[in-house]
Amino acid sequence: MSEKKLPLDAKSLFALAQELPTPFHLYDEKAIREHARAFKRAFAWVPDFKNYYAVKACPNPHVLSIMKEEGFGADCSSLPELELARSVGIVGEDIMFTSNDTPDEEFKAAYDLKAVINLDDVTHIDALLRSARMPELISFRYNPGPDRTGNAIIGNPVEAKYGVTTDQLAGCYRRARDLGATRFALHTMVASNELDGTYIVETARMLFSQAIRLYRELGIRLEFVNMGGGIGIPYRPDQEPMDLTWVSSEIEKLYRSMIIPAGLDPLRIVFECGRMVTGPFGYLVSRVRHVTEKYKKYVGLDASMANLMRPALYGAYHHITVVGKEVDADAQVYDVTGSLCENNDKFAIDRRLPKVEPGDVVVIHDAGAHGHAMGFNYNAKLRSAEYLLQEDGSVRMIRRAETMDDLFATLRF
Ligand SMILES: Cc1ncc(COP(=O)(O)O)c(C=O)c1O
Repeated sequence: MSEKKLPLDAKSLFALAQELPTPFHLYDEKAIREHARAFKRAFAWVPDFKNYYAVKACPNPHVLSIMKEEGFGADCSSLPELELARSVGIVGEDIMFTSNDTPDEEFKAAYDLKAVINLDDVTHIDALLRSARMPELISFRYNPGPDRTGNAIIGNPVEAKYGVTTDQLAGCYRRARDLGATRFALHTMVASNELDGTYIVETARMLFSQAIRLYRELGIRLEFVNMGGGIGIPYRPDQEPMDLTWVSSEIEKLYRSMIIPAGLDPLRIVFECGRMVTGPFGYLVSRVRHVTEKYKKYVGLDASMANLMRPALYGAYHHITVVGKEVDADAQVYDVTGSLCENNDKFAIDRRLPKVEPGDVVVIHDAGAHGHAMGFNYNAKLRSAEYLLQEDGSVRMIRRAETMDDLFATLRF
């Protein structure tokens, strides 16, 4: 079981929702920092352990600054994400540039920033040479294909557009070395929102095997393996978070039985997790506009899938708390909807909630990653503000809400 806590007591949260226009996203700085430290502690045995926070999960410089202060790097997938990382002083090899279908100018920008460039395809070596040069340190993204089953969310690796195949892998490193690379890393991402720790342990086994193979076939010693992101969070109260201490100790056993005997110690292990770092500590705060009864009962919020699209996009569960009300004998079953002209604009279907009334404040949990970031403007909806609940208890706006002027700014009329 994972308890679904609120970042503030009900009275303070209600007051905040009176003071600030709803909907808005709220991130709990203290909890984010504590969790980042726990992640590092779990992997303390790894030489120079690092998580490159996936910028796409919450692309806000204030959040990235927290990541930097906690010793994390940044995983960037585009030029604007590189810029965001740079803007908070995350530069050089503290950036992992894991892009796909990458334009030449983005390779150049990553090269100029001295980021670790993680190539997604064998042909991207030429794309990199067109726009920059072969860097000293180069990484390749590995797709194991039929040798590994992807998890349910990311899907079968054979169907994935990402990465180089098992047969292509050694050739990539050989060519990179011929072109002047002297330092090497290996990356993969075969799971998304995975809660089963054995999956992560098996990913380590897979990468260690490839590290040994590259050493035997080419004499290349990898500097680090990047396990990707994909560690899940317990969106449902009946789910358990992944036991990172257990995962780490199992990976350590593999390290001792595979990497050390192969003469490959020290080999750094890094991640690029976003969701598990900030996801549970972000909340979408919204207000009930209408409660309606048709063939079913509906709670209509002032938020919509423009603010958080995971439930509508993937049918993902996000826990919902009606602030100040407990689910009790008077509980009702509702669909909780947004205001888009899309019937799948629902935060929950057939959800048991306390009796809801217009004006109630509703908190949607676990919105701190792939939440605001996935927002969009369909139906000319405006994206909401982001606030940081700082460690001293004060609340700071870290992104204002969009206005109609923002929406019209790109139009020519
Ligand atoms: C290459 C890559 N790395 C890291 C991540 C972060 O994943 P998560 O936030 O689930 O840890 C993603 C997510 O899409 C990704 O595509």
